[in-house]
Amino acid sequence: MIQYQKGRFAKQAHVAIPEGLFEEEHGRNGFAGRASQLYRRHPPNQWKRIEGPLRPRLIKTERLEPDDLRDPRGIPMPVLYNDDVVISVSRRAQPMPFCFRNADGDELHFVHQGPGLLRTDYGAMRYEAGDYLLIPRGTSYQVLPDTSDNLSLIVQTRGEIGFPERGNIGHYAPFDYGVLEIPELEPAEPDGQEWELRVKRMGQLTSVFYDFCPFDVEGWKGNLTVMKLNVRDIRSLMSEGVHLPPSAHCNFQAPGVAVCTFVPRPLEGDPKAERIPWFHRNIDVEEVFFVHAGNFSFGAGGRGPTPGTMFVNPLGLSHGSNREELAAARSNWRKDARSEFTAVNIDCTKPLEVSQEAATQSARRPA
Ligand SMILES: [Fe+2]
Repeated sequence: MIQYQKGRFAKQAHVAIPEGLFEEEHGRNGFAGRASQLYRRHPPNQWKRIEGPLRPRLIKTERLEPDDLRDPRGIPMPVLYNDDVVISVSRRAQPMPFCFRNADGDELHFVHQGPGLLRTDYGAMRYEAGDYLLIPRGTSYQVLPDTSDNLSLIVQTRGEIGFPERGNIGHYAPFDYGVLEIPELEPAEPDGQEWELRVKRMGQLTSVFYDFCPFDVEGWKGNLTVMKLNVRDIRSLMSEGVHLPPSAHCNFQAPGVAVCTFVPRPLEGDPKAERIPWFHRNIDVEEVFFVHAGNFSFGAGGRGPTPGTMFVNPLGLSHGSNREELAAARSNWRKDARSEFTAVNIDCTKPLEVSQEAATQSARRPA
């Protein structure tokens, strides 16, 4: 790999940044491709103004009002989408009075708030905040929340969702596949009652009616099923000496989409190592960053986004923290300091559109 260099720079990226300069990474293919670090006199996200359509977005998901918040027959609200992925918000307040089957793509639900029961062809499983629920395309399912105050993200992918290659890391980090849970078969429902199965294909819903429960499976075998992973079972990869990029925390991927999870962990112990992400301009990836829990301020006065906040960092614009957070992360250095937030980061290789519904509701109630 050929390396070039000019001027003042850090020999080890992300460590011992030259005094008074700010490090920005200009890289390809997320954090996996060719890259250079640029050492600047100013944070590159401190623009004076932006003219034109490109800008970072902040969406308070708990202020969105999907149809399923008030109408049991309602469906989640698409928020962001491209050809590969649709990211929706569900605030389902009552159990589905129907079964649902998505013929358009795999679904990965991230339960931000509210426990409940997921019933499927493969059986049923309880879910709670912090769970990922992986539902393969074509699975019939029913969501029955316990409470009325719920919020989940639903990532629908055109391609099949799988796990990233772990290579030299081995098979047991950032989680052992043995911690994945699958549903348990339920006792049979009595026949004679009408059941509705709503099938989504090309975004349109078709209802299929039965006089028996569609979850009438007495047994199954195979390697395709519904799975559950909770964030507390993710054991973050980390390094004493250098901050790792978000891609090190990827747990699920599909063509054009990677889902990463940041979980509580010790901060880098080397006093010269940067402890928060360097600036970067995401030239091949559009980023959706969703705060699930915890404090995100890095000691910068207790501020920081509240749980439920979603950031959209469009490819092309630089992003990162700010001067105050950088200064706080350096000045508050303690050997035993920890990062205590949990967040979900969805990287998309194609630019995302914001749905009309989300744009309207965001505009009506600005953050
Ligand atoms: Fe980023």
